[in-house]
Amino acid sequence: MKRINIGIIGLGTVGTGVLRVLKENAVVIRERLGAELVVKRAADRDIVRDRGVKIEPGVLTTDALEVINDTDISIVIELVGGTTVAKDFILKALEAGKHVVTANKALLSTHGPEIFKKAVDKGLDVYFEASVGGGIPVIKTLREGLSANRIEAIYGIINGTSNYILSKMTHDGGKFEDVLRRAQEKGYAEADPAYDVEGIDAAHKLAILINLAYGTNVALADIYTEGITRISPLDIKFAKEFGYRIKLLAIAKSVDNSVEARVHPTMVPATHPLALVDGVYNAIHIRGNAVGPVMFSGLGAGMMPTASAVVSDVVDISRNIVKGISGRLSPFACAPDAVRPVKIKDMALLEIPYYLRFLALDKPGALSKISGVLGAHNISILSVIQKDRKIGGAVPLVIVTHHAVEAALACAIEEIEKLDIILDKVVRIRIEDNLGTVL
Ligand code: HSE
Repeated sequence: MKRINIGIIGLGTVGTGVLRVLKENAVVIRERLGAELVVKRAADRDIVRDRGVKIEPGVLTTDALEVINDTDISIVIELVGGTTVAKDFILKALEAGKHVVTANKALLSTHGPEIFKKAVDKGLDVYFEASVGGGIPVIKTLREGLSANRIEAIYGIINGTSNYILSKMTHDGGKFEDVLRRAQEKGYAEADPAYDVEGIDAAHKLAILINLAYGTNVALADIYTEGITRISPLDIKFAKEFGYRIKLLAIAKSVDNSVEARVHPTMVPATHPLALVDGVYNAIHIRGNAVGPVMFSGLGAGMMPTASAVVSDVVDISRNIVKGISGRLSPFACAPDAVRPVKIKDMALLEIPYYLRFLALDKPGALSKISGVLGAHNISILSVIQKDRKIGGAVPLVIVTHHAVEAALACAIEEIEKLDIILDKVVRIRIEDNLGTVL
């Protein structure tokens, strides 16, 4: 039986998971592939720690170049993360004629095109299923399963940490800071959670999805990114009263020859399947013009789900090796010369419904002052809630608008915040209530 040698750079949680999957599922993988996968070398700074999985003598090294330059190795798995040494390792591996598998979303969202071009020039494969959605096969779906479609929209819950925090706030109550602290204590959130809760991790993943869906190279700076740090229990509660749940959504939408690219807290109908995806689970809802809506959910992180995606990539590349081919599937998901810039829609022109919460003095005429400003900016009100929840002599007043233009709304909010009846910054949360069902 043919033997395909693999090298791994980075034996942390995911790398250890890769060793486990290869070992525990060796028989089924060998039968599916018709070849045997062998980890020939694995590099990590720590080659002493017991990882709970048997590693053959002579496999471990502290020198990544020993993996990259091993002429028996056909596939290098990069799992060190970050955008500096990881990029160097991948480019060196490609230069040395190795196919590459990586889970590195930060790297691919910034240097993906350079890496992909190098792979194409060398006739090699780069696979990166684990970079978005952990174990969910969304990259394969966009590169292959939906290749007959124009992608109309993508709505992703693609940051497990944020989804865990919002789910806890929704179902158990509590302030953002308290829930985050508890999540950190339980090891569900990083000690430095900024990338997760500020939406940056989701923006990295969205960039990868947009590039595949639209054959482009979006700049991270063009993706509007807003995290969940300002979501309050009051907004979670009002969202429920209006029939919504708040999710951190990564959204790509093809509209009028441009693409909306945005990550922000979003109210979605409580009955939509995305609203039901809780805890650290991820979900990606894609609408293709031929297939209609499809949705995947599953674990977006963790040792074994992420290793599942990495090893599946290794199997895919190995199938090509068995057949003596490579480069069949462009890493760009389109012919390299078809990659082109797309126009990213200016957020100021966004036109969707909004949830607005005001802290207003409970005085006659307060509502009419607010609605007067909204009306003057052509913003139409769909519904209003004012309940007797007095906060220091003031009451929260909540308005859901019909579709409104973001720039007009921003002007209206600025004017409203200057009214003498308004005691605090206005809270604005975007609503997506027309995602398309998948039931
Ligand atoms: N930090 C990520 C998350 C996991 O919370 O979803 C890996 O992408």
